[in-house]
Amino acid sequence: MNVYDSDRMADVLAPIGYAATDVPGDADMVIVNTCHIREQASEKLFSELGRFRNMKNKRAENGDATVIAVAGCVAQAAGAEIIKRAPYVDIVLGPQTYHRLPEMVARATRAQAAGGKNKGILDIEFPEEPKFDHLPQIQAKGSSAFLSVQEGCDKFCTFCVVPYTRGAEYSRPIEDVLGEAKIFAAGGVKEIILLGQNVNAYHGEKTKGEAGSEAGLGYLLHRLAEIDGIERLRYLTSHPIDMDDDLIAAHGEIAELTPFAHLPVQSGSDRILGRMNRHHKIEDYYRIVEKLVAQRAELKLSSDFIVGFPGESDADFEATIKLIKDVKFLQAYSFKYSPRPGTPGALMADQVPEEVKVERLAILQALLVSQQTEFNEASIGKSMPVLFDRRGRMDGQLVGRSPYMQPVHVQASDDFYGEIADVKLLSASANSLGGEIVSDDRLTPSFKTKERASA
Ligand code: 5AD
Ligand code: SF4
Repeated sequence: MNVYDSDRMADVLAPIGYAATDVPGDADMVIVNTCHIREQASEKLFSELGRFRNMKNKRAENGDATVIAVAGCVAQAAGAEIIKRAPYVDIVLGPQTYHRLPEMVARATRAQAAGGKNKGILDIEFPEEPKFDHLPQIQAKGSSAFLSVQEGCDKFCTFCVVPYTRGAEYSRPIEDVLGEAKIFAAGGVKEIILLGQNVNAYHGEKTKGEAGSEAGLGYLLHRLAEIDGIERLRYLTSHPIDMDDDLIAAHGEIAELTPFAHLPVQSGSDRILGRMNRHHKIEDYYRIVEKLVAQRAELKLSSDFIVGFPGESDADFEATIKLIKDVKFLQAYSFKYSPRPGTPGALMADQVPEEVKVERLAILQALLVSQQTEFNEASIGKSMPVLFDRRGRMDGQLVGRSPYMQPVHVQASDDFYGEIADVKLLSASANSLGGEIVSDDRLTPSFKTKERASA
């Protein structure tokens, strides 16, 4: 989501003359876009800001002004503190106000030009009007694109800061999403990754402004799959309790939907799920996985796990390990529990010692690596459609991703860059595969027909 937001901030600033640079010292403006989900993000931010203050001072010696802005969820959660502790910061803005950046930048540059003591601008409001209606038209870049369809969350898991920093749940109207997807497709985008903090809670209006016309993510995916040129669809990140029947059925009906679903579960223990306020039991998760695989036999899952949530016993952790083995997750984002100020989990009495968290995380990650390696090795000899979105380090090498997000390296003509082709997989390691192109798939994409999807 932050990658998407950073791109959109660049889009908002382009009309007033700003473009991205790779050389920090050349920058007339620096925006630090922050994430607050884990760790001591604010301490990290202040040390980064120190570097930018030095840069600002150096540029000032040459008569160049620099605007420093802090955006994102740390800004939302600790905006006033940032202004106080880092008075050289010109602008602090939350994730819901970046459409107002041009106005803030104008005010900041005017204040700097006038000399005098510059008071930082703070805009961390949750505006009534969604920012999406005020952003410039999206531009297609590359062959794979993020498309934000939903933001915020009303679930209040006891470990999570998102409902406080991103605000209430909001779904963009379907026609707006389809409009952006069509711009992407026309610009050569092959893969769209729908984004939302709680993306399967999506319920966008079919007709903008018409209350009661809402439809869910399953419907939206069907409409997106109809767009010519869109060959791959994925969505991130979902909650098990929002996996409704329409969405599950979509996995069998829509060949463009990758046979790889990301469904965070966090823990394999009912007791911990309860304390996390996740609103489901582990049995429910097994049922959802069964239903998904019944729709599409080759479907595999990835997930998110938190180890060392307050009160997690050895038996609770063992239940998580059992779940990972049973579901055979191919991949996961796994984290040590990080108490977030202002969330109920941070106040729970039975915090787990750091060394226990470290040990559990290592065990869990080793298991996931072994499952991933096993899957990669079992892929040898198979052919899969690969979307080539990177040039490799070696001459004539392209790197792409299989439908299971495995990085795949091939020697191939640069004509395949940005395209999808069938690759026969010949070698494997824990985190990547090698192979050769067996067919130019540009005209007849694999995994595209219903027959193929359920074969
Ligand atoms: N500590 C550790 N991990 C967390 N996540 C969210 N909040 C925390 C926290 N306080 C993880 C969850 C979530 C992912 C985006 O980040 O696993 O699914
Ligand atoms: Fe955070 Fe996801 Fe829970 Fe919402 S559903 S509170 S975003 S973990």
